[in-house]
Amino acid sequence: MCAGAAFGGRADRRRPLFAPRLHYTSRMHTTDLTLTRPDDWHLHLRDGAMLAAVLPHAARRFARAIVMPNLKPPVATVALAGAYRERILAALPEGADFEPLMTLYLTEATTPEDIAQARASGFVHAVKYYPAGATTNAASGVTDLRRCYGVFEAMQKHQLPLLMHGEVTDPAVDVFDREPVFVERHLTALLRDFPALRMVLEHITTSEAAHFVRDAPAHVGATITPQHLLMNRNAIFAGGLRPHNDCLPVLKRETHRRTLVEAATSGDPSFFLGTDSAPHPRHAKESSCGCAGIYSAHAAIELYAEAFEAAGALDKLEAFASFHGADFYGLPRNTGTITLRKQPWTVPDELDFGGTPGVPMRAGESIAWRLQA
Ligand code: DOR
Ligand code: ZN
Repeated sequence: MCAGAAFGGRADRRRPLFAPRLHYTSRMHTTDLTLTRPDDWHLHLRDGAMLAAVLPHAARRFARAIVMPNLKPPVATVALAGAYRERILAALPEGADFEPLMTLYLTEATTPEDIAQARASGFVHAVKYYPAGATTNAASGVTDLRRCYGVFEAMQKHQLPLLMHGEVTDPAVDVFDREPVFVERHLTALLRDFPALRMVLEHITTSEAAHFVRDAPAHVGATITPQHLLMNRNAIFAGGLRPHNDCLPVLKRETHRRTLVEAATSGDPSFFLGTDSAPHPRHAKESSCGCAGIYSAHAAIELYAEAFEAAGALDKLEAFASFHGADFYGLPRNTGTITLRKQPWTVPDELDFGGTPGVPMRAGESIAWRLQA
């Protein structure tokens, strides 16, 4: 393992990157950024009225999204995933062009037959691992990864990726160390025992995770959220406790944020866009025991543009947002485009989350890029 190596230095082991089809025009004080329509490889859409309220934000920006299965009850079977997919399609606004890519919630009752069925369905694209109790609706998650080895065998055979919430839940482990400890205790063993299993370490937050993925074989990838590129853990305590900046894995030190920016902007195809946009009602966040989750779907690609621009790497945004994930999942790249304009706008203080107010990322504050119609 070469922990000190720079990102992007492994092109020799990877297929070459295509030249980005990026059109960056600056005319009469207007700067437009046109890129191939992106996809969101990690999204929480919820269900019912909340689904109907948040789905248009994602569908306006992204052509496809990997939809998280942590509903109540969890989306643990192909039949449940199929029904959930129908509800998402029914909730799409008129004329929207958006494809939900479904996932199965891994439980200790998941069988190799479920995996074969998932692969045969054509609409289930991955299986999501939550350590039991790690986060929102993770109670039905897995207590011991070894109980799932038969299922991992089947996933390896059927080429169905394992998406991981990569944190240990051991109460003896400091909350800020839960991801590096997961990498050390579990990821290394998984990679050894299932050398061909496709894996995505979701919403990575630390240098340890970024370096592990960088140095792992090409079938190990990672998603990176806008909040982990734009904020460090000071944002949770800025002038008082800020529940709307609380998510899991929790924000980390500035040094980790910088490594994540380096990874995202490196051009390394292992890293791709996954917002982890996770709506919760305002009252559920502003509580004595608040829910973890940051809602970013209202401005996701705009926020990524800000992070890439700050790093002087706008030319790397398209590959991260529109190519790497599709290539990893073996899906065709999108053909349409979206355009962002450098035109600051103010995010509303709150949004309707389906009959209940919710507080979006950057509420009441400015965002530098605006999505054009
Ligand atoms: O912050 C988070 N919110 N992290 C997760 O892992 C789950 C998500 C949610 O569903 O609210
Ligand atoms: Zn998530």
